[in-house]
Amino acid sequence: MSQEKAHGERRYRIATIDGDGIGPEVCQSTVAVLREACGSSLLDFEMHEGGAGRYTRTGEVLPRSTEDACRAADAILHGAAGLPGVTYADGTEVGNDLHLMLRSRLDLYANVRPIKLYPGVNGPLKNWSPGQIDYVIVRENTEGLYASRGAGVNLRGEVVTDSLVMTRKGVERVARFSFALSRQRRGARRDGKHRLTVCDKANILRSYAFFRAVTTEVAGDFPDVELDYAYADAITVHMLRKPDFYDVIVAENMFGDIISDLGAGTIGGLGMAPSGELGDRHGLFQGAHGSAPDIAGQDAANPFATILSGVMMLQWLAQTHGDDRLHKAADRVESAVTRVLEAGAWLPRDIGGTARCSEVTQAVCRALK
Ligand code: IPM
Ligand code: MN
Repeated sequence: MSQEKAHGERRYRIATIDGDGIGPEVCQSTVAVLREACGSSLLDFEMHEGGAGRYTRTGEVLPRSTEDACRAADAILHGAAGLPGVTYADGTEVGNDLHLMLRSRLDLYANVRPIKLYPGVNGPLKNWSPGQIDYVIVRENTEGLYASRGAGVNLRGEVVTDSLVMTRKGVERVARFSFALSRQRRGARRDGKHRLTVCDKANILRSYAFFRAVTTEVAGDFPDVELDYAYADAITVHMLRKPDFYDVIVAENMFGDIISDLGAGTIGGLGMAPSGELGDRHGLFQGAHGSAPDIAGQDAANPFATILSGVMMLQWLAQTHGDDRLHKAADRVESAVTRVLEAGAWLPRDIGGTARCSEVTQAVCRALK
């Protein structure tokens, strides 16, 4: 029996949290596109609340019912969360906890952030065209410096510390994930080589030297993937000067957060940057951008990052369940996005156009027909 037949009846439950700011707009856009691509028989979107807005109403940023729904679902789709004014007494933002709690509670240890320049997007790197910038940053998502969130020490307002945490298990699994991801890809654009670049500051801190050493041990199981090292400061220059050299880059949580925004800058900005946060059992998909409250509710947001995160969600579900219908849908959405961008008539404001979020959405849906 073909896989298509085997999965003929299978539907997938998508826990959907639209969140704050532009979150609802980009989320609705993506749901519309995925419905258009998949018809009504493949995905069930279930809406759940969470984020800073919800916190101001009930005191919960991640309600229990939302967490349970995320656990039970086949995948999680998220818009964006966070509002600058909604903070804890220590000054940190509440909204981020939606994400941070899901990352740790669902053990979403690999944050996959593709850096891909699409045709029609006028990136800031003048000498590079689509097809030349196409690599992936894997950000370790459960340890590193951010593991100290809410656990740092503030002594009498005079001395403050946050600790960088790494475990052998945590580094090993994200390294293994990254090598395996390189194996699945077609290699660096420059030379077609499967390559994993370890981004760290192994020259300065023991934790980063450990990250590098453990990843190097894991490399023994992947002799077909070239191992490369780059310091986190230097890689910010390399990513601008030789983006075609990269295939997969793996980095500690905070470094991965920072360099993935830099990478996004090279392909049109955060509005073009999707992300998929994966564990062994769960996957959460959202744009790499924040909730942009300054443009919320104006139909001005760029939905491409979330739509492309939706593509990643379809690909991950397809792979996890061996369901070819989802592979096909993912390819169709990515090709529709590519054609809309290439046509140039429906570019959102942040990438130099004038199209509204709803117009971009309609254009992608038309391209899917
Ligand atoms: C990201 C964001 C997050 C982070 C927030 C939303 C928790 O900047 O996903 O990159 O700091 O990791
Ligand atoms: Mn970030």
